[in-house]
Amino acid sequence: MQSLDDFAAGKLRELDRNNLHRVLAETDRLDGVWVERAGRRLISFCCNDYLNLSHHPTIKAAAPPEIERNGVGSGAARLDTGNHPLFAELESRLARLKGSEAACVFGSGYLANAGIIPALIGPADLVLIDELSHACLWTGARLSRATVLPFRHSDTAHVEALLGSHRARHSRALIATDGVFSMDGDLAPLPQLAALAKRFDAWLMTDDAHGLGVIGGGRGSTFAFATPIDVQLQMGTLSKAIGGYGGYLCASDPVIDLIHNRARTFVYATGLPPAMVAAALAALDLIEREPGYAALPLIKAKTFTRLTGLPEAQSPIVPLIIGEAEPALEASRLLEAEGFLVTAIRPPTVLDGTARLRFTFTAAHPDAEIERLAALVRKVLPRRILPNHVESVAP
Ligand SMILES: Cc1ncc(COP(=O)(O)O)c(C=O)c1O
Repeated sequence: MQSLDDFAAGKLRELDRNNLHRVLAETDRLDGVWVERAGRRLISFCCNDYLNLSHHPTIKAAAPPEIERNGVGSGAARLDTGNHPLFAELESRLARLKGSEAACVFGSGYLANAGIIPALIGPADLVLIDELSHACLWTGARLSRATVLPFRHSDTAHVEALLGSHRARHSRALIATDGVFSMDGDLAPLPQLAALAKRFDAWLMTDDAHGLGVIGGGRGSTFAFATPIDVQLQMGTLSKAIGGYGGYLCASDPVIDLIHNRARTFVYATGLPPAMVAAALAALDLIEREPGYAALPLIKAKTFTRLTGLPEAQSPIVPLIIGEAEPALEASRLLEAEGFLVTAIRPPTVLDGTARLRFTFTAAHPDAEIERLAALVRKVLPRRILPNHVESVAP
């Protein structure tokens, strides 16, 4: 048999050949915007800390007293002794913000998604999932052992057709989608998906990792439309706009009770450190107190799309699709030489042939830097990297 090392080396050679080998780069995040890499100070346009709360003085101040009182870890799963009283407070705050009866905090967003669907959906059931949904939503769907059918990105006619031909053969059905798509920044067509869910007796689940704090007045994608959408399962993370770490599900009382009993990634995983829970509470306070601040990342993203002529931003995430991996890497290197950190996103994170730069905007990005970045994207990238994109990028 081939040795394990030979096997790994062979796989890595294949990744190298396709420009898909990834390596960890040490990054010192100096504040919510600036980073240091290999001794260079760069301004990051690729972080999910949309409100810069990871470094906000008020949020940081919430953690040390909890470390002092309760230590650095929670010590056990929440169903054992890891259920610090602050969890109940955080969960009721999340539920209030998302307009649900209850909430459940998980160790991370990935753990939430890996646990929620298998707790509610089984082999006799159907999951329809947007093809561009985040990897961990796919993980949950696959772990459920249900029939999993992807639908074309945001194509509600395709969802309708799939429900029409498959729904009757399954006992329960779930439509699962990102609320804000992590690599494309667009919003899911939630009003139409909710109407289809109702018509075909299906449940609707959103992964709103990139919606909380920055879309719909800070309440997420459910609230980004003319009226709030009926989404029975609103999942999200505390690791992006909230600035810390952790995941959650907002749903009805009985669903959350069932999750406590059946979601394996909740039952068998250690609870979040209490200091992280305290920081998340402080972050929610700030988001609710300062809606003007929470609106800034989207405003900044719209400034960038206006200056570059890219399609108007719907969220703080703006993709510039380049195509193959190598020119995407080259574009990233070129921006880095100018002081901007914008990582290239390559398959399998995105579909083959859609490697891209993914720009993310935060409340604290200086407008002058956005203008300088936009000028590079408009003038330099088309000439140096994207000869075929000159017309699509130039305003
Ligand atoms: C859409 C989406 N869902 C879920 C996750 C996972 O959340 P976490 O980082 O808290 O595990 C991410 C983060 O990468 C994400 O982008």
